[in-house]
Amino acid sequence: MATTITLKIKRSEVPGSGSYWEEFEIPYRPNLNVISCLMEIQKRPVNSKGEKTTPVVWDDSCLEEVCGSCTMVINGRVRQACSALVDRLSQPITIEPMSKFPTVRDLRVDRGVMFENLKRVKAWIPIDGTHNLGSGPRMNPADQQIAYELSRCMTCGCCLEACPQFNDKSDFVGAAAISQVRLFNMHPTGKLNANERLDAIMGQGGLEDCGNAQMCVEVCPKNIPLTTSIATMEWEATKRVFKKLLGS
Ligand code: SF4
Ligand code: SF4
Ligand code: FES
Repeated sequence: MATTITLKIKRSEVPGSGSYWEEFEIPYRPNLNVISCLMEIQKRPVNSKGEKTTPVVWDDSCLEEVCGSCTMVINGRVRQACSALVDRLSQPITIEPMSKFPTVRDLRVDRGVMFENLKRVKAWIPIDGTHNLGSGPRMNPADQQIAYELSRCMTCGCCLEACPQFNDKSDFVGAAAISQVRLFNMHPTGKLNANERLDAIMGQGGLEDCGNAQMCVEVCPKNIPLTTSIATMEWEATKRVFKKLLGS
């Protein structure tokens, strides 16, 4: 049985600097996840050649696959480091930052574009002040079920990392933002601003940029039905075009 865990980590010092691979070996213990391995390296930053090095930098927060901040590419697959169990990974374990977002340092990336895209599509429900508005309108249980599934998005970025249409040459908002439009447009209060959100994804960088490669839905850790959301919003967009033509 292996007594060590070997990790190959793609590192970089500052934004825009070149990247390099550094290998580490840490003592094996059962049931470790990738974050625990990174923490071991942080405690004793010595690479597998025995050279002292800098501690590896990464992001995490919830440690239970809820916040999305620890998303990275592990053995070629984009996923959360906190739920990546070493006992289920082949070694050496390769760990890289996501490639579709600017690298800040080592495994830390700037996912700011995702939050900007949520702003672009107005993925919120405007409220009038902060006073108590009472209980909101009721939703039927079937819609509640769909809304619950869609609301599980943790803005992790996996769907954008996998999407061939999301890259530095396009301004495609991506599947997560489109799915959030579906979520807020089906909300009884959110419906009041449905057309604004729809218009946002009918313009440049919206629905038309999706090539229907369906990679997003394959990698979403929350199993959000992203391609169904895209198809639903395409249908809503078509209806809006016809309504505009008919002047209603
Ligand atoms: S269906 Fe394909 S092109 Fe469209 S958002 Fe998903 S991965 Fe990207
Ligand atoms: S839709 Fe899924 S993969 Fe995309 S950001 Fe949300 S949780 Fe992550
Ligand atoms: S630390 Fe929150 S998803 Fe991994």
